[in-house]
Amino acid sequence: MKVRPRRLRASEALRKMVRETTLTPAHLIVPLFVLEGNGQRRPIASMPGQFQLSIDEVLIAVAQQRRLGLMSTLLFGLPKRKDAVGSEAWAKDGVVQRAIRAIKKKWPEHVVFSDLCFCEYTSHGHCGVLRGKGSNVTVDNDATLLNIHKTAVAQARAGADFVAPSGMMDGAVAAIRSALDKNGFKRTGILAYSAKYASVFYGPFRDAAASAPQFGDRRAYQMDPSNIREALRELRQDVEQGADMVMVKPALSYLDVIARIRPEIDVPLVAYNVSGEYAMVKAAEKNGWLDGAVNSRAALEIVTSIRRAGADLIITYHALEIAKQLS
Ligand code: PBG
Repeated sequence: MKVRPRRLRASEALRKMVRETTLTPAHLIVPLFVLEGNGQRRPIASMPGQFQLSIDEVLIAVAQQRRLGLMSTLLFGLPKRKDAVGSEAWAKDGVVQRAIRAIKKKWPEHVVFSDLCFCEYTSHGHCGVLRGKGSNVTVDNDATLLNIHKTAVAQARAGADFVAPSGMMDGAVAAIRSALDKNGFKRTGILAYSAKYASVFYGPFRDAAASAPQFGDRRAYQMDPSNIREALRELRQDVEQGADMVMVKPALSYLDVIARIRPEIDVPLVAYNVSGEYAMVKAAEKNGWLDGAVNSRAALEIVTSIRRAGADLIITYHALEIAKQLS
């Protein structure tokens, strides 16, 4: 036996030296849910360890993240009132706009992504403006683009570094780029949720963000889980339209999509390790079925696998517990 692969595994030093995949806090983006009010820190039942936070609590959370080397946050808003079109999304004093301003005032260098979608803001829970009656109701793509345009500008004006359209509307990236440029926000970037699948793994998020559709589902705008060529098409289109970064979402059941797309695209590739993927790990840990409820080894292994598949950046609810293990 000339070849003995175990030689390279003999000590922690050697294992570190030959490690092929790096994972640092700089690779992680922390999602946060922002509430109205003060001193609010409401646990999310289906996502143990995650909370809906009022803006003062968001600042405490970001301070803690920054101490661990985490340098970016993705914000989702829970508005005080919902309506048919989701107009709180672009309100000047909307909860996300205020949270962005508060974070940027304290830490101008903190990288803030703001989710740009309407399902948290609409009374019906769909990701845009509805059209039609009865069983013919659909989300009107181009009417929704006008609201995406307004929301992107409101978020950029508040100081977001990147707006992140997650509604899977056709042409959203081009519409946002031209809206931002016209309004003087040339430096504001776009993270496009390009290949976002119609996934069952968003279940806990819809609890957390109160954004479950009140009827029907999202299969007429999100992607069919069976498709991979279509993902490539979506990503290419978004890059052509001006996306600075693109995303595959969810991550775990789509590692093949990440791996397939990586060499085809020359902008940073982001993967979203979504709420249901987080909830599965936490449920198993709670039952003692996986090692390390406090220092989640499962979280580290999963997020490493997403990096190994080819993601540059990972949005994950595990960010804090991973950063603690890395420090
Ligand atoms: C909104 C949005 C969703 C998620 C991010 N943005 C939910 C959905 O499309 O229903 C899911 C994130 C998660 O599950 O962690 N369009």
